[in-house]
Amino acid sequence: MTGMDRPRRLRRTPALRRLVAETTLEPRHLVLPMFVADGLTEPSEIGSMPGVYQHSMDSLRKAAVEAVAAGVGGLMLFGVPRPEDKDATGSKAIDPDGILNRGLRALADEVGDATVIMADTCLDEFTDHGHCGVLAGDGSVDNDATLDVYVDMAIAQVEAGAHLLGTSGMMDGQVGAIRAGLDDAGHLDAGILAYAVKYASAFYGPFREAVGSSLQGDRRTYQQDAANRREAIRELELDLAEGADIVMVKPAMSYLDILRDVADRSEVPVAAYQISGEYAMITAAAQRGWIDRRGAVLESLLGIRRAGADIVLTYWATEAAHWLS
Ligand code: PBG
Repeated sequence: MTGMDRPRRLRRTPALRRLVAETTLEPRHLVLPMFVADGLTEPSEIGSMPGVYQHSMDSLRKAAVEAVAAGVGGLMLFGVPRPEDKDATGSKAIDPDGILNRGLRALADEVGDATVIMADTCLDEFTDHGHCGVLAGDGSVDNDATLDVYVDMAIAQVEAGAHLLGTSGMMDGQVGAIRAGLDDAGHLDAGILAYAVKYASAFYGPFREAVGSSLQGDRRTYQQDAANRREAIRELELDLAEGADIVMVKPAMSYLDILRDVADRSEVPVAAYQISGEYAMITAAAQRGWIDRRGAVLESLLGIRRAGADIVLTYWATEAAHWLS
């Protein structure tokens, strides 16, 4: 038949498809979340995240070097304290000798400015109740008291070597408070990667195992409700006004519409976090032979990029970077 539109012409050969590809996926777009656990001498695999480890100080350094050699854009570090070191206010989060700050110093020493070192600036790993903030007398999470702790935590993390602070606690005003606190302490160049939009999600399940979370109940009084879309824009605009350098949407796969909304409006780079449950789902299906692992991973990452993410946090960062280069 003549005179018909034939989009298939541009799909005929790999070279044609490469020529017209609209979205790119490069190692520099990927950030590797890492866990360092206090008291480990060997890395310990996380049961619900096969292939992801709680690191010892030594294995953290090795994995960081490998990630940087593969060309990843950055590293996001989470600390896992000993259970007996947790308390009501998460004081080990501020202690320069707390596991996260020690891990940051090890990363700064090992890879320094060859990559971007990011720290999770949130209390949930360090509190004995597992919440992202400190509690008021009635057991609720006390927003403003938490901000004071976040400021001290942020300063300690910058002094340990973090370039960017990942504010993941979803307290109101956290970006503004941390920005002001860093500036007052003279840390004008430390940046904030704001978890601007973070939903309460069932897909965080494996992460709770990864960090040995003490949480009973849920985070629905501070993380967003999956039903809401407008609210994401409100959260975005607040974080931009408070001085976020990069904004993040989390989780990724179930919130790609939100990611697109944010990318269309943001004046700063946009990140998305492909979270633990997303990793676990693809890994489990691939282990059963139900999907092709590499194809599914790369497609999921490309989809997140296509939806608007400049940067993708993914537990596959190092492996995907190898595939891509
Ligand atoms: C909380 C935090 C969580 C994740 C990152 N930071 C868990 C939560 O909010 O319960 C989840 C990451 C993942 O699931 O991969 N500071």
